[in-house]
Amino acid sequence: MTERTFSIIKPDATRRNLTGAINAVIEGAGLRIVGQRRVKLTEAQAKKFYEVHAERPFYGELVSQMIAEPVVVQVLEAEGAVAKYREVMGATNPNDAAEGTIRKLFALSIGENSVHGSDSLENAGIEIAQFFTDADIVG
Ligand code: TYD
Repeated sequence: MTERTFSIIKPDATRRNLTGAINAVIEGAGLRIVGQRRVKLTEAQAKKFYEVHAERPFYGELVSQMIAEPVVVQVLEAEGAVAKYREVMGATNPNDAAEGTIRKLFALSIGENSVHGSDSLENAGIEIAQFFTDADIVG
């Protein structure tokens, strides 16, 4: 089934001019970038986006990192896009990430791990709606 998932190229990656390199991996894996925008997240947006982690010890640092530099928010489309992008991203901790994945190639640490991708189709819909209107997505 053709799906859409939500992606963020995080500040550690935009700061190092890696947007194009990451997009090459995304497109190389057969995911189509059907929506894309560069945005500086507000603290409120970052807190809301990661609110499931609000009680975790890394939450404060995670929010600070997400607002430190602009991010690139994206909508990616493919057959099974949610699972496919999770595979292309690699494990949360880059030390555990498979060869050729974005996090293996580019992540600095578990916190500065270069990309976000939705973990379910339901969350993809919720996350896309936080940043894109239907008119911003051209399939
Ligand atoms: P999580 O949703 O568990 O991972 P993923 O991004 O792979 O879906 O965590 C969200 C982000 O929180 C993760 O990308 C980086 C940060 N994080 C830490 O900084 N330390 C941690 O121990 C964990 C689990 C996550």
